[in-house]
Amino acid sequence: MRRLVREHSLAAGHLIQPLFVVHGAGVEREIGSMPGVFHLSVDEALDREVERVRILGLGGVILFGIPASKDEAGSESYADDGIVQRALRRLRERSPDLLLFTDVCCCEYTSHGHCGVLAGETVDNDATLAVLGRVAVSHARAGADIVAPSGMMDGMVAAIRAALDAAGFSDRSILSYAVKYASAFYGPFREAADSAPAFGDRRQYQMDPANVREGLLEAALDEAEGADLLMVKPALAYLDVVRAVRERTDLPLVAYNVSGEYAMVKAAARLGWIDERRVVLEALTGMRRAGADAIVTYHAKEAAAWLAEEAER
Ligand code: PBG
Repeated sequence: MRRLVREHSLAAGHLIQPLFVVHGAGVEREIGSMPGVFHLSVDEALDREVERVRILGLGGVILFGIPASKDEAGSESYADDGIVQRALRRLRERSPDLLLFTDVCCCEYTSHGHCGVLAGETVDNDATLAVLGRVAVSHARAGADIVAPSGMMDGMVAAIRAALDAAGFSDRSILSYAVKYASAFYGPFREAADSAPAFGDRRQYQMDPANVREGLLEAALDEAEGADLLMVKPALAYLDVVRAVRERTDLPLVAYNVSGEYAMVKAAARLGWIDERRVVLEALTGMRRAGADAIVTYHAKEAAAWLAEEAER
């Protein structure tokens, strides 16, 4: 009877697995603060991971790249032979049906670790827009289906839409990290992507955790600029924001279950303090209940395997 009257569902197809790609050969290096998540080289290491994703029936993967070298302008982010571009070409060729998202941001590629072009000690919002357009076009050319700008620059969606259309990629979609908070929950990611800012923090462009109306405004602006999907990030401490955005837009909505949320669950599970499987499925169900259509989560593969087991019972 519980199954008959259940109000919300969670399925593998709702989940998007983040993947970290690196230069080199035969690399499968676990990230210290994110057990079960690996730096993968663009060869059999990546192929094996993507084969698991395919078998489990996940909704897609989102790619993050660790460049060979960083510079002031973050130039590997839009290079034809950049790490994400190389990964995209390999995946597109071998897995034509896999939905490929890419993170579009400068912070993994810049020597200063900020999400845009610097003018003195601050990010120059408008100068950054041209760079983001260039990154998005290079990802589209290499095979990305959906580009996901995460830098919280004003006007980023309009700039990327215009750049994609001008380059002949009007068929590609934009998932905007529209409502992204300046959060301490990104800590492990910054180790994984080596992207902690060299000075200052991201409060110039990321939102104040105390605000929700501001998030609605950000979401409405990105929708008006042509976003195809919207994202709220992080997820667990912001489920009220997910719900509020859900009630204001008819666009598909994504929640990002971020690295710190993942690390806390993994740490407590290792200590034997929680039942990991139940905690993960409960948290992901909560995100769906709050109104997320899809969820970016490092738990995606494990959660999908558990869901498949439960369906067999
Ligand atoms: C890049 C970016 C970040 C995350 C996704 N894209 C880091 C940040 O804004 O500092 C965080 C993801 C996570 O913590 O899992 N701008």
